[in-house]
Amino acid sequence: MKIMSGNSNMPLARAIAGYLELPLTDASVRRFADEEIFVEIHENVRGEDVFVVQPTAFPANDNLMELLICIDALRRASARRITAVVPYFGYARQDRKPGPRTPISAKLVANLITEAGADRVLSVDLHAGQIQGFFDIPTDNLFAAPVMAADIQARYGDQSLMVVSPDVGGVVRARALAKRLDNAPLSIVDKRRDRPGQSEVMNIIGDVKGRACILIDDIIDSGGTLCNAAQALMDEGATSVTAYITHGVLSGAAVSRVTNSALKELVITDSIQATEAAKDSNKIRILTIAPLIGEAIRRIADESSVSSLFD
Ligand code: R5P
Repeated sequence: MKIMSGNSNMPLARAIAGYLELPLTDASVRRFADEEIFVEIHENVRGEDVFVVQPTAFPANDNLMELLICIDALRRASARRITAVVPYFGYARQDRKPGPRTPISAKLVANLITEAGADRVLSVDLHAGQIQGFFDIPTDNLFAAPVMAADIQARYGDQSLMVVSPDVGGVVRARALAKRLDNAPLSIVDKRRDRPGQSEVMNIIGDVKGRACILIDDIIDSGGTLCNAAQALMDEGATSVTAYITHGVLSGAAVSRVTNSALKELVITDSIQATEAAKDSNKIRILTIAPLIGEAIRRIADESSVSSLFD
């Protein structure tokens, strides 16, 4: 088995390789003067089971292209099996046609990864579970919930908890977390979004008064959804609001929005490499999912059960 990485999240790739007690495959992924990407693998991979770690986060297009070219290089070097390990799958929010004459870009990206030569895909908290079906190759969708639940139990386990979904679409995810927290009660923020990148909290379903609220979502991008939800929950009498979000996209002014928000804390994972601003924020904490991904890779390589990781 070999672990290779593009440039998107080298620290995560190193941590996964460390968990598996393997060195990272010796390869360089660099740019020509005109920014074309060039990949060179400096060791033999013929007949190997290779896992390429490359979340397609900002800059999404460059990181996606790096992933495709890494896969192509591995295929032409006769790797036996290539798994695209994409902890954050960019373009996932474009998973349906929101209007006429619009693309389904998540499906296009799935096609590109498959056509490049990937045999399998491993991702974490896909924006919508059905994106698995966009691939006609085996696709494992891991959940960060066990890692989050352990942290919540350790830090907030002695409080009267309420798990909150920031929108109706996130209820299944929130319910799964609540189940892991000894069936904590569930509340929902009924959100209306007028334009992309803007959100407006309308109504809280459930009584959050006197509760330590745990907001859960897959993505924080501009931070609008979360910061508005946190304020609405505090206005309804919550004692505190902490957010657990798998993918810290944190575009634009998101870090300062979070820092100045009603949130007590934002906890993200290292599925995306954090910016310096995010690392410096006293409200943002990062949990590692390297052991989770490393263990899933080990099980895929051994052909043992991945789903039992979540029992
Ligand atoms: C939307 O369906 C997602 O689950 C997130 O709630 C959304 O992407 C967050 O975006 P923002 O941080 O820009 O409000």
